[in-house]
Amino acid sequence: MALLPILNYPDPRLRTIAKPVKEVTAEIKTLIADMIETMYDAQGIGLAASQVDRHIQLIVMDLSEDKNSPRVFINPKVTPLVEEKQPYEEGCLSVPEVYDSVERPKKVRIEALDEHGKKIDEEVEGLLAVCIQHEMDHLNGVIFVDYFLNTAFSCVNEYSEWMFLILENKKNFYVVFLGKCGTNIGKLELLFVGTLTALALF
Ligand code: NI
Repeated sequence: MALLPILNYPDPRLRTIAKPVKEVTAEIKTLIADMIETMYDAQGIGLAASQVDRHIQLIVMDLSEDKNSPRVFINPKVTPLVEEKQPYEEGCLSVPEVYDSVERPKKVRIEALDEHGKKIDEEVEGLLAVCIQHEMDHLNGVIFVDYFLNTAFSCVNEYSEWMFLILENKKNFYVVFLGKCGTNIGKLELLFVGTLTALALF
């Protein structure tokens, strides 16, 4: 087994739409084992293949306290069963140190295959419902910060080839990127994550 590098926001590869898995080959089985190991190592509860730069519909997850009950979802389909949404303070291994509340449907149906090709068909609530929706977003190129980050400020100094891009969320939490002018946002360097007060000091 091997630890895989996790792509960090705003890497543009995180925007790739994942393709269905055609067959669970030996290579896919190795990828599943590596993803589970990577998830445990990074102390995460879920990891989508997109986050390790493999753009196939594959998610691993472990919501158990003892971290001994990994689950695998291949070609998952997630359908909301209720309109009611619940907020949950989410984080993401691809966006270190950023946590914020995201509202998602409270109850969903998960249809998928497990690592043995066995059908999964479950109606779930709670953390599993939150986590599977977060990971499904990854397979569709969506990152949880998309729900609350706005471009607050972008500054291009005409005398300099450097630019700042500052993203703000609704709680005055700032994410600052630095890069050369004309750089695709995905290639900008993450410089700072924190509050306005800290930003003023910086
Ligand atoms: Ni994530």
